[in-house]
Amino acid sequence: MTPDIRQRADRFCQRFGIALPILLAPMAGACPVALSAAVANAGGMGAMGAVLSTPEQIGQWMDDFRRQSDGPAQVNVWVPDPAPARDAAAEAATRAFLERWGPPVPASAGDAGPADFDAQFDALIAARPAVASTIMGVFSAAQARRLKAAGIAWFACATTLDEALRAQAAGADAVVAQGMEAGGHRGAFEAARADAQMSGLFALLPRLADRLDVPVIAAGGIGDGRGVAAALMLGASAVQVGTAFLAADESTIPDAWKQALTAAEPEHTRATRVFSGRLGRALDTGYVRAAEAADAPRPQPYPVQRGLTAGMRRQAQADNRLDAMQAWAGQSAWMARRGPAAAVVQGMWQQAQALL
Ligand SMILES: Cc1cc2nc3c(=O)[nH]c(=O)nc-3n(C[C@H](O)[C@H](O)[C@H](O)COP(=O)(O)O)c2cc1C
Repeated sequence: MTPDIRQRADRFCQRFGIALPILLAPMAGACPVALSAAVANAGGMGAMGAVLSTPEQIGQWMDDFRRQSDGPAQVNVWVPDPAPARDAAAEAATRAFLERWGPPVPASAGDAGPADFDAQFDALIAARPAVASTIMGVFSAAQARRLKAAGIAWFACATTLDEALRAQAAGADAVVAQGMEAGGHRGAFEAARADAQMSGLFALLPRLADRLDVPVIAAGGIGDGRGVAAALMLGASAVQVGTAFLAADESTIPDAWKQALTAAEPEHTRATRVFSGRLGRALDTGYVRAAEAADAPRPQPYPVQRGLTAGMRRQAQADNRLDAMQAWAGQSAWMARRGPAAAVVQGMWQQAQALL
């Protein structure tokens, strides 16, 4: 490995207490403690996606994680969007459409609000993970000060140079460069701009690495050691991997989703708003295709659409029915491997080091 790449990765690992520069990506609903502990125990960093978690659940997750690993973990929260504009007639059309794919949708389903961000933040401070991470925006100055005082580092997700510079100015200790290949929600600070800001990781990563003073973590489409090596060469200090861990033994997603990941070509995933109202990359399932069709009602804004689709998503998950499942997936889904997560981490890192 060339000395500059080695030094950059080593500096990052030393600063954040890991043995190798591979982080489990925060994935709400798909980061069980066992998966995080396996990645941390293999030398990387665990993660919890806490967007929908109560303060108690955040504390409980960290307690459980500490029982299974001495390694570090990040707890991820979403910076709330402004309250959405509601349209009762449009919501009624969406509800009627969704009933073709799942159970009846009560009008009140659209009232689902965002979680209590301040309460989540207090719980995060009390739980003291090694890292707090944000998506969809940045912490306030007061929150950044509280993190520093508690000795908790802050990783901020960015999809453009402008967002990355805002995160750095707000006090982020590292910036996650999220390429548009990534599975799950796109972290654009402004929800409406997400589709217009779809940069691939190969274009975004070196731009951020050249302009930022803080380390850059690469995310999006990294599924094996080739991706890890390429990201480190393009200026990343570490990588964050989501989809490639979803088929691992410790992952608890439904089996139909696991199977579909390994069979998916890059173009079988699609960036869509039809699950939550926020843009996110998912497998192009029957529901996604129908809801994206020209004659389907337009998705409601976040978090209204998330509330309206909750029943369908829950039912599909319980029934292991891929067609209506919220099956997030990045473009490198085909790289997701069965087997223990530790083997995925070690395989990636060995291959990356050999290539570098
Ligand atoms: C199932 C799933 C859930 C996700 N949930 C979150 C989340 O709650 N917060 C977040 O910051 N990113 C979330 N993401 C995005 C990941 O953190 C990361 O950016 C992405 O997985 C990287 O791309 P990859 O999936 O190609 O590895 C999610 C991704 C997936 C696949």
